[in-house]
Amino acid sequence: MAEQKLITLKINDRDVQVPAGTLVIEATKRIATEVPSFCYYPGLSLQAACRMCLVEVEKFPKLQTACTLVATEGMVVKTDSEQVRNARKYMLEFLLTNHPLDCPVCDKGGECELQDMVFRYGADTSRFVEEKIHRPEEKWSNLVYYDAPRCILCFRCVRVCDEGMDVKALGVGMRGANSVIIPNREDHLECEECGMCIDICPVGALTSGTYRYKTRPWEMQYVPTVCTHCSNGCKTTLSVRNHEIMRANNRDLSGINGEFLCVKGRFGFDFTHHPERVKQPMVRKGDKLLPVSWEEAAQAVATKLKAVRDTYGADAVGFIGSNRTTNEENYLFQRLARQTFGTNNVDHHRTADYTGLITALGGALGERAADSLLTMQDLYRSKAVLLIGNDPTNQNPLVAWQIRTGIRHHGAKLYVINASDIRLNRVAKAFVQVGARQEAAAVRWLAQGEGPFSSPVVEQLVSLKAGLEAESELAIVFGSEITGTAIAQLVAFASKLPYKVRFMALGDYANSRGAADLGVLPDRFPGYAYVDDAAAREAFERLWGCGPLPSKPGMTTGQMVQAAQDGKLKALYVMGANPFDHYGTLGYGRNKLELLIVQEMFLTETARVADVVLPAASAYEKEGTVTNTSGEVQLLRKGAEVMGPRSDFDLLRIVSHQLERAGLGKAFHYKNAGAVFEEIRKAVPGYKVETAGLLLGIAEQARVAHSRNGHGAYDVPAGTILPANDNLFSSGTLGKFCTMMKSVPEAKATP
Ligand code: SF4
Ligand code: SF4
Ligand code: SF4
Ligand code: FES
Repeated sequence: MAEQKLITLKINDRDVQVPAGTLVIEATKRIATEVPSFCYYPGLSLQAACRMCLVEVEKFPKLQTACTLVATEGMVVKTDSEQVRNARKYMLEFLLTNHPLDCPVCDKGGECELQDMVFRYGADTSRFVEEKIHRPEEKWSNLVYYDAPRCILCFRCVRVCDEGMDVKALGVGMRGANSVIIPNREDHLECEECGMCIDICPVGALTSGTYRYKTRPWEMQYVPTVCTHCSNGCKTTLSVRNHEIMRANNRDLSGINGEFLCVKGRFGFDFTHHPERVKQPMVRKGDKLLPVSWEEAAQAVATKLKAVRDTYGADAVGFIGSNRTTNEENYLFQRLARQTFGTNNVDHHRTADYTGLITALGGALGERAADSLLTMQDLYRSKAVLLIGNDPTNQNPLVAWQIRTGIRHHGAKLYVINASDIRLNRVAKAFVQVGARQEAAAVRWLAQGEGPFSSPVVEQLVSLKAGLEAESELAIVFGSEITGTAIAQLVAFASKLPYKVRFMALGDYANSRGAADLGVLPDRFPGYAYVDDAAAREAFERLWGCGPLPSKPGMTTGQMVQAAQDGKLKALYVMGANPFDHYGTLGYGRNKLELLIVQEMFLTETARVADVVLPAASAYEKEGTVTNTSGEVQLLRKGAEVMGPRSDFDLLRIVSHQLERAGLGKAFHYKNAGAVFEEIRKAVPGYKVETAGLLLGIAEQARVAHSRNGHGAYDVPAGTILPANDNLFSSGTLGKFCTMMKSVPEAKATP
């Protein structure tokens, strides 16, 4: 990479060296000098609207706006002269001419940029005696409110909605002192309801429907954790009062998502105290599920499970795990199946073929495969992106944000192959529209030059391929449309390109990737080693101090649901999943199962027909780690507390102890999730991530890489990879219980 030219300027008599092209406002940060600003926001276009950032520059006749002035060699800047101090004072006085001084009741009070600036740089008197222009507060949606008099017209909201979100729902109306921000549908908003505009507003002009007038910032604790809705793994900070989540945002701009959160991350937390939460264990008595004591429930689980296993054998029991539970819980869950019960009938609802990706990369690249997986930051930085299938704007909002931001900030090029005309096409360099479910065929065309396409589509593919070949690096991002053989073909195509290519498979849920990585799969151990690989089995037998582990691959989720219907599976243990909904085509209900145990937060279609339901805590109520779709491991921290439910980690420990008492297997003796993670770090290839980094809130990349180990091409049975088709306003079971989020009209179309 070419060396960046540095220039030197003087700020407040100190020499400062910065890359050529740096704005003066950024240069001042190098020497920890604050130049106050409102309209300037890194990453958004320059506005120069508020004039708060005025500085004195030698040889310039007037004060200059530091947010638009590019630093040049030898420039002499003063940020603290009397003239500058006075200018700031007058600007603040001017901003306050129409601003109501209602800080005591304003949501932003205590964390308002205007309040802080007035405190630091403002005058203590005002010369303004005229009556202020008053306007009533406007409700733009259940989630977004606007209070015009508080607005200081910095246009951050307009720009973030336009440039950042590509939604363009906000504009400016009227002129001069009467200027206001206006929503896109006369008196209300129709948009993604992401709340980015609320978050970015420096004052209390835009407020949140879920948070307004509920509490004060200093009454809450702030818990950094990870969003529990989709697979992108946005860092979020929960503002918690009395163990209840009051709001979620990422105002400290840390983590893989910076300022970004979508509607689910920002507003989708009230499921935690939804009245339908299961808070007590329940056991079926006759045709009713009745609340019972923990002891009775735990005993029922152990004795009934053991009886089924003793009567019908290990493979009559199946385990369906979760794509929301933590890595530690997933690890224990598959261990319960494999070690305690002796079966590989363990799987989860797979929404992306991570196994296929790791296998294809391992087969093509061996150990180097680990370097071929993209992180969210890599995606932003990448000069070119090939997106195949999926609709990231709706299904993977952070991925869409990263792609859009890369295009906006450094001219990244986006190539799209999709059956639908997705929103990201607006910013794409090339879009090839294939027929329904033809994305995999397009990959075959790229790899082998053959496919069922008409000549216009072939022409487009030819030109897209030529575009790709002319790039200098590539990020390939694909959805559930691309699995098994198609992934191998994609890797084969990429290996012929003359530069580095990295991959990202897009799953649907918060720990979809973690469930696969940690071996909640019928044919793979944690870290993707095959269950029929004797060396891998021996390693886990040694680690767990147990007898022979089963070597025959077990049933997939779909096969287990089918086997439950056929009567071949007698007992099913479900943790945080709703297979009788997702696999509903096979018929609802428990079918011929003799026993159904469910760990759940709500009485889902599956929990409703269970014999025992154990109330489970949500991701916002427990500790552990999760891995996002790009393989980045992050720490979950406990924010909320709900009386009754327990973490799935606790539930699995309780069940393992009861099973030991009943004479089956060994109890899990891990003290806490951290102890399980330590074992995962040692035992699971790719998970030796830095715990110090995790504690600091850094996303550490799990570098999993597995070779084929003598196996041929990898393909799962048809129907195993089942996209959830969630959108911005839905996320499986959790989404259904997010009352505020579901209340906006945009969500109405969503089940
Ligand atoms: S909520 Fe999001 S999409 Fe809607 S106006 Fe605000 S920034 Fe734009
Ligand atoms: S509503 Fe907030 S972000 Fe938007 S222009 Fe007004 S002060 Fe700025
Ligand atoms: S993009 Fe996904 S992880 Fe991020 S806030 Fe939205 S739902 Fe949560
Ligand atoms: S921050 Fe420079 S003009 Fe607003």
